[in-house]
Amino acid sequence: MTRMTHQQIIHWLRETDSAALELLFAQADEVRRQHVGDEVHLRGLIEISNHCVRECHYCGLRAGLQIPRYRMSHDEILAAAHQAVLLGFGSTVLQGGEDFGIKAEWMAEVIRAIKAETPLALTLSLGERLPEELQLWREAGADRYLLRFETSDPRLYAAIHPPRKGTARSSPSDRIEQLKLMRQMGYEIGSGVMAGIPGQSYEMLARDIEVFADLDLDMVGIGPFLAHPDTPLGRPDTPNAGAEQVPSSEMMVLKTVALTRMMCPEANLPATTALATINTVDGREHGLESGGNVFMPILTPSPYRQMYQIYPGKACIDEDATQCNSCLRGRIDRLGRMVGEGPGGRHTRVSAWSGRAASDAPGWKPVAEVVKASPLTVLQ
Ligand code: 5AD
Repeated sequence: MTRMTHQQIIHWLRETDSAALELLFAQADEVRRQHVGDEVHLRGLIEISNHCVRECHYCGLRAGLQIPRYRMSHDEILAAAHQAVLLGFGSTVLQGGEDFGIKAEWMAEVIRAIKAETPLALTLSLGERLPEELQLWREAGADRYLLRFETSDPRLYAAIHPPRKGTARSSPSDRIEQLKLMRQMGYEIGSGVMAGIPGQSYEMLARDIEVFADLDLDMVGIGPFLAHPDTPLGRPDTPNAGAEQVPSSEMMVLKTVALTRMMCPEANLPATTALATINTVDGREHGLESGGNVFMPILTPSPYRQMYQIYPGKACIDEDATQCNSCLRGRIDRLGRMVGEGPGGRHTRVSAWSGRAASDAPGWKPVAEVVKASPLTVLQ
């Protein structure tokens, strides 16, 4: 299969003809079937902390917002991980804000305990952390790391991601570098973007999709931008890219998922909670029918679940883990697809290394060497 060109991607992102789009979705669905099959993998999402030191202009957890904050305890996280096993999930994702109250060694202990007590593949999504911390967690047994780069356009990135306060850093952070570094450490790496961030043009979104392919991502999460009224990008007068502005709509997300499937045939692509929020009836189904092959049921226990409101109106927060599980399984069933068994990692290359020691992974280097060679280090 030849790679789509930049112009072709832009053309499809702008396409509005429904018959043409049906063809795109059908083709993406076929590529999905051939490369990752009919299985839909379930990743139990545990939102372990809503503390955050960052002030991303779109996020409802940004530092400074007066919201109730929480950090789950070791035992609470372990209980949720055991529930993932009971519900038949092959993997779990521990997600949180960029919370330096989560100490590296404490987190490593949580990781070791989950790996010792369960067969789960373990994904972390804890923001931009130091190379030494990422390496420690990899060695403790973490298999995968999710870090959306949000936009590959350096100017838009810098405009909506202020550098972390209290550090010497004045330049914007570099999430793409962190992803490359984690790949070298032997993590499976996941990233993604929101479709429709104010200031995002078709050109930029097309480039984002090309970057997914260039990074050879193992996982790509794509959802709509959902305006949060208490954030800078949630204000009604937020400037945007005018005629070139990507709309934040379900259709835009589905096109982006389909094109990502065409460009990254083997990647795991979730039908995201944000997609389910913009279309509560069948947004998730549409995600699975346009290239997606993953669901991420929320396992976070109450009352924390209601406190992790990255954007308003988030789907599923009034349910509990058991309800989320049966709702999502029902949706998979009705589409004639089946729930994936086991960890459900990347089919080729990287997945063979999941769960093994970091030092067995291809391209593995000792931490000192990786850290020395990384442009990230200078920025920390
Ligand atoms: N709307 C949609 N998605 C959002 N995220 C953060 N804020 C919003 C928002 N307002 C997404 C980001 C982040 C992920 C955890 O949630 O892409 O990486």
